[in-house]
Amino acid sequence: MFLKKMVKKMVVLGTGGTIAGTSDVAGDNIGYTAAQVGVGQLLQAVPGLTALLEMYGVALEFEQVAQVDSKDMDFCVWHALTARVKHYLAQPDALGVLITHGTDTLEETAFFLHAVLPSNLLAKPVVLTCAMRPATATTPDGPQNVLDAVAVVLDVKSAGVMAVCAGAVHSAVDVQKMHPYRVDAFGSGDAGPLGYVEEGVVRWVRIFDEKGSEVRVKYHYFATKNIANMIELPRVEVVMSHAGATGDLVDALLMQSGADPARPLHGIVVAATGNGTIHQLLEAALLRAQAAGVTVVRATRCPMGRVLPAAQSAFQDSDGLSPVKARIALMLGLLESQCASTR
Ligand code: SIN
Repeated sequence: MFLKKMVKKMVVLGTGGTIAGTSDVAGDNIGYTAAQVGVGQLLQAVPGLTALLEMYGVALEFEQVAQVDSKDMDFCVWHALTARVKHYLAQPDALGVLITHGTDTLEETAFFLHAVLPSNLLAKPVVLTCAMRPATATTPDGPQNVLDAVAVVLDVKSAGVMAVCAGAVHSAVDVQKMHPYRVDAFGSGDAGPLGYVEEGVVRWVRIFDEKGSEVRVKYHYFATKNIANMIELPRVEVVMSHAGATGDLVDALLMQSGADPARPLHGIVVAATGNGTIHQLLEAALLRAQAAGVTVVRATRCPMGRVLPAAQSAFQDSDGLSPVKARIALMLGLLESQCASTR
């Protein structure tokens, strides 16, 4: 029998999530435990995956980097994941990396990888995918999402960190979980998806301009950091402005930070109302925090759009990032300036 020579490989890194979740009750879509099935077993359950990769002459390699419910995602997993993604992307025969992940913090992991991976490595794709239904559901969405993510890794135009869910391809910068239950849970806000996967073919809608020239998503925010040497990121907390908000949480954070030198507070992101407006009591407390040396960034809690810079604000805005992504950007930005000042 003629066996096609495998010249390239695709690497799948498992981190857990609902895609690897199981329930004792077949068909239960919400009463399940995330992060139970190993990535190898998960891939085995994807119909047609082996045949598809064989058709392309692509070998499959996989590794379990973590097995977590992504609500508990932390820097330790990001650290390990970044190291493994870098390791594989640097291999000439690796087409790209696919990561299986929980939906709850997928956008944060995607943004973190986008921010710390060197841009030369991001000439290859890093595609995160997930599921809203556990592996034991009557109609699990994970297998189709994996097949769609594989199609994105295989596409010659793919590059950078992306997320694939329910047939849509999102950039790491814009992707956001929009729905807690529907299978089509992710959106890219005003920017819209980068493309769609249709019957195994990617139809890009955002990487070409009207003249047909390729426009890449701006995919590097920070100079490459040697994440291997990072032990932790500067502490940045998120607070929300809302009707009846007070400054109590911010004052408590400041007090606790002063009392515990091992956990100093370096930054606060405020999930502000509308165009970055903040309740006056919370704003007063944030000004006290800023005066005490804490960096304060305003992001909007609106799921679409961005804060338009207002001349009168005392706080910098998040440059269009959602509160959780603004937190990651601020942690990395603070780290960058800490490193610069110790050089
Ligand atoms: C998780 O984020 O790990 C659990 C929820 C999900 O994947 O949908």
